[in-house]
Amino acid sequence: MEKKNLDWANIGFGYHQTDKRYVAEYKNGAWGEGKLVDDANVVLSECACVFQYAQTCFEGLKAYTTEDGHIVCFRPDMNAKRMADTAKRLEMPVFPEEKFVEAVCEVVKANAAWVPPYGTGATLYIRPYMMGTNSVIGVKPAEEYQFRIFVTPVGPYFKGGAKPLTIRISDFDRAAPNGTGNIKAGLNYAMSLHPIMEAHRAGFDENMYLDPQTRTKVEETGGANIIFITKDGKLVTPKSNSILPSITRRSLLYVAEHYLHMQVEEREVLFEEVPEFVECGLCGTAAVISPVGKINDHGKEICFASGMERMGETIQKLYDTLTGIQMGNIEAPEGWVKTIL
Ligand code: PLP
Ligand code: COI
Repeated sequence: MEKKNLDWANIGFGYHQTDKRYVAEYKNGAWGEGKLVDDANVVLSECACVFQYAQTCFEGLKAYTTEDGHIVCFRPDMNAKRMADTAKRLEMPVFPEEKFVEAVCEVVKANAAWVPPYGTGATLYIRPYMMGTNSVIGVKPAEEYQFRIFVTPVGPYFKGGAKPLTIRISDFDRAAPNGTGNIKAGLNYAMSLHPIMEAHRAGFDENMYLDPQTRTKVEETGGANIIFITKDGKLVTPKSNSILPSITRRSLLYVAEHYLHMQVEEREVLFEEVPEFVECGLCGTAAVISPVGKINDHGKEICFASGMERMGETIQKLYDTLTGIQMGNIEAPEGWVKTIL
């Protein structure tokens, strides 16, 4: 199969319309047969629940080309499960988890020419999403839904690739204590658009959100969980009911413990202890592990010992091991890597 003619190493994190996308419709209480379609447009009633009451959720995962030319994806069953949890919280019907994984494979296969070649640094980002489609004007869930998946080749989420980021403490809150921070609802991202633009206008790469109740504990950023490394090489990551349960973070905890024989701690992390850590990184599907060099707290800087030039040594090891597993160069734990082609 001939690959598309793209400048893979420089594509950035943007949308490229690919050839095929998957659509399944929910009507009369049941999911219909899904299929691949060519049309990238979605045409809906002006009063669709997604437009009026933001009844929409999504997932994000990636497919990779391995050195020996296979196409694989990373832990799609985990995304299927998280989307099911999200759907329940938003009163949406669950898209069956096995069908989710099959549909992911089907779309990736149909767009194989768009999966970036091995070694280019680019990957295929897979975006499953679901929305309430029928007209509702009183506040209530829709009765009809679409589950869709499109794919797009992407490069690094943060421009500058692996260069350490400068993030700032946000005065906005990301999620309420008993709100929707732990699910992948579109509304969590709508609310983050103003804070992220304000952060960019002020010269920062991202926002670090603190817990909204006490503003003393580290939560996460707008699009990634956070990991820290202690002086003695331990991985510490915040535990909170209002952050997204990142599949990358959960995988990293396993990799740290079982591949790199590190100690790991998932616990509440007080913001006041952050200066004691020596490395910091943002982790997620899009972010992979993006190193943080500096945190700005209302003008006061916390500078990590790893500096502003390159990833710290421990985060580099975690990055190499995780991406090695994802790209098939390091043996994966059972069930983590699904071969598509
Ligand atoms: N936190 C937020 C708010 C996100 O949007 C994402 C991205 O999916 C993550 C964390 C990382 O999650 P994952 O590793 O499952 O992609
Ligand atoms: C992902 O990592 O898949 C996300 O959804 C994060 C988003 C900021 C692109």
